[in-house]
Amino acid sequence: MNTATLRALDFDHPSIAPHAEGAACAVGRAWAKVPEPVSAERRADLKSHIRELLAREHAVLVAHYYVDAELQELAEETGGCVADSLEMARFGRDHPARTLVVAGVRFMGETAKILSPEKRVLMPDLDATCSLDLGCPADAFSAFCDAHPDRTVVVYANTSAAVKARADWAVTSAIALDIVAHLHGLGQKILWAPDRHLGAYVQAQTGADMLLWQGSCLVHDEFKGVELELLRAEYPHAKVLVHPESPPAVVAQADVVGSTAQMIKAARELDASHFIVATDQGLLYKMRQAAPGKTFIAAPTAGNSATCKSCAHCPWMAMNGLANLADALEHGSGEIVLDPALGERARVPIDRMLDFAASRDRRVRASGDLARDTALFSAVGPA
Ligand code: 13P
Ligand code: SF4
Repeated sequence: MNTATLRALDFDHPSIAPHAEGAACAVGRAWAKVPEPVSAERRADLKSHIRELLAREHAVLVAHYYVDAELQELAEETGGCVADSLEMARFGRDHPARTLVVAGVRFMGETAKILSPEKRVLMPDLDATCSLDLGCPADAFSAFCDAHPDRTVVVYANTSAAVKARADWAVTSAIALDIVAHLHGLGQKILWAPDRHLGAYVQAQTGADMLLWQGSCLVHDEFKGVELELLRAEYPHAKVLVHPESPPAVVAQADVVGSTAQMIKAARELDASHFIVATDQGLLYKMRQAAPGKTFIAAPTAGNSATCKSCAHCPWMAMNGLANLADALEHGSGEIVLDPALGERARVPIDRMLDFAASRDRRVRASGDLARDTALFSAVGPA
């Protein structure tokens, strides 16, 4: 039996009709389970048990970059993958395994199930959620869409199946810019949800007419612009890598803004020895592997204006552990169950995104422009 203590978390819970710029945000309260520490000996036992169970269950482990390094290692050494949310979706859909075990947060497991309804999708803990998902309830979102029928509805992958079922397009941070630029080029006006910072960034980069839901990620929202300036003064030659869920004052100081995979690519390819990184600290494990010898410094979440709700590690990603992963495989617990009709409707915007990504990748390969491969990133200069 796995035990865990509960940690209370506040998150931005936009009001029913967040139409206006700067619309008032209520504060929602959620919980994350903090896993009990596990001894080194027990961890070794659990890992070998998980390897056996993955083989026994014809299962593959699909992990996000933000989960614990030991889970990332296990995914890689057992033929699974560690990836950003876009690649996780593609990998799970295309893999022949009968069971997908998704180590990440709830929307990632749901996306896997939507794309592979015939497969069993397990998660170490189904309560591992996301403040963006929590802050965008389907009924309120649906009312928002009803009020703006002239707009193309684009939702971030960090949403429930019910919200996706209301959307025309899904996007992840790896492809949001390209998709919105495409829709803008077609003359479409966008209704965007839920991340207001990513939405504002995409709006600024593309010039698209976008109406933004006012949600936020409680991890990235904590990065501090003023404190980042002070840190940059200490490391004047460091490049700054920023996930676009971060506030505008942080994004404005970035050398590169991109998804988790795009940030790793930048760490590997940019000619710098030091990097300041504004995203979940789980990503540093992969960055250090991808760019050995380079130094990675966490962007500040502390300082005068800090509340340090997250300290740069997603409390829900942290709910994925070896013990509950073993339990899920052993007992089939943590299975994602979705209404098939809802899954079919939610699949439409995700398929559109994946088809768009595939044709973008083909175009990029054909043009030989390797700087714009699937791990495309956008470079902006610090202000
Ligand atoms: P990516 O799509 O970049 O993997 O990000 C997912 C996420 O939840 C970031 O907080
Ligand atoms: Fe959601 Fe933020 Fe956690 Fe990503 S890091 S899963 S956006 S709460």
